[in-house]
Amino acid sequence: MKAGAGFPLLGHTLPFLRDARALIERHRRRHGDVFTLRVLGRETTVFLHPDATREIYLDRDRCLSSQGGWASSIGPMFSGGLMLRDFEDHHRHRLVMAHAFRRVALDGYTERIHDVVDRHVARLPDGPVDAYAAVKAMTLDVATEVFVGASLGAQARTVNDAFVAMMAASVSPVRVALPGSRWARGQGARARLHLLLHELVAERRARDEAPDLLSRLSHARDDSDALLPAGEIVDHLSFVLLAAHDTTTATVAMMLAELARRPDWQARVRAEIEARDGEPVTVASHAALVDIGLVFKEAIRLSPPVPFSPREVVADTTIAGTPVPAGSLISAASLGQHVHPEWWSDPQVFDPDRFGAARAEDKAHSHLFVPFGGGAHLCIGNHLAEIMAKVVVVRLLAGHRIVGDPGRPVVFTPVPIPRPARPLILDVRAITGSS
Ligand code: HEM
Repeated sequence: MKAGAGFPLLGHTLPFLRDARALIERHRRRHGDVFTLRVLGRETTVFLHPDATREIYLDRDRCLSSQGGWASSIGPMFSGGLMLRDFEDHHRHRLVMAHAFRRVALDGYTERIHDVVDRHVARLPDGPVDAYAAVKAMTLDVATEVFVGASLGAQARTVNDAFVAMMAASVSPVRVALPGSRWARGQGARARLHLLLHELVAERRARDEAPDLLSRLSHARDDSDALLPAGEIVDHLSFVLLAAHDTTTATVAMMLAELARRPDWQARVRAEIEARDGEPVTVASHAALVDIGLVFKEAIRLSPPVPFSPREVVADTTIAGTPVPAGSLISAASLGQHVHPEWWSDPQVFDPDRFGAARAEDKAHSHLFVPFGGGAHLCIGNHLAEIMAKVVVVRLLAGHRIVGDPGRPVVFTPVPIPRPARPLILDVRAITGSS
């Protein structure tokens, strides 16, 4: 294992924040599939081989803590969330959470996602649109209406504003509550959001189970048939809002940006949509949207919304033969692995057919394509994320053409949260009878 030195005090922090993709690629070329980075004062050993990724996700000897890995970034704002729990405690909470992600629950969310998406698509102007901002506004409404509940009314604004402030604080490098600072605003927002969610849990429990995620969680029972304490539900819901929001926003924006630059793929996708004759996307039928599925996979291969899976080592162990001592930090990195030239053909090129049955490049190793992680912490919202992305593409492209600049590659800056490196302006045109 080789260590890239970086600058003595800052280490690789600045290049990491500026362009983590280029930093990983440079280290891979220089050091191979295992190297260390020094970011925000701590050394992390990064693994790019799928054998190592499998060992990290499966963690058979329970030596790796997800809580410890994520604590310093999202821990303070989103403590108590699933990714900030480990082992038995995580398992118990994951089982309760599964109640809110069962098939019947997903059916309900999917129906309501259509309503939110249709409303946003109807509001789109004809002409240039900042696609990232438009998608972000849409997914924020999905979060408040579908996850927290449609009956929020004026409180929806409180949830939206609090959540935006908490996310801004989570990615702020300055973590001191100076008056007016991002950190102080995040803390205030967290207190307001938690207060409101506590009230809403009580309200949901006083009524029968409704189809929103908060109501599902409020009625979920653990294996001794007990309801979760309200504080734990509030922690889980806050975390789900975080886990769902920027990830889905980045995915959908990336899909639209690529479809806008590639008329051939847009035509394939539109043909698939037209063949459905207006039928809504459902949990049962979404797998039939094969071409949109390929575009979805290619978007999250090239720009994984969760580019790293950090873990704290809690007992000395080895990862794919490399010793890692207790107390150290390690990370799997889909950001590097998804474009590793030993595994993918023309890895930087947008080419959804690489996932088709004829080539199936992702199947070369069980843990090569890992946009949703793996093992105990596998993304619990993976199906919902794919369905959400498909609903947006289907409802938008059914009535609109989107055009981007084919000469301008789509580049997303991966950290602290994935976002377009330049404004993502797409030309959106309603399809009229004559067009
Ligand atoms: C394309 C969109 C998404 C991607 C790429 C994604 C990716 C991931 C990844 C990689 C992890 C595991 C991280 C690790 O092991 O360190 C994860 C965990 C998680 N995700 Fe997602 N996610 C997405 C959307 C969603 C959505 C829509 C939800 C909920 C509605 C969600 C909820 C969660 C939760 C609760 C966890 C923690 C699971 C656990 O620790 O047991 N995610 N996600």
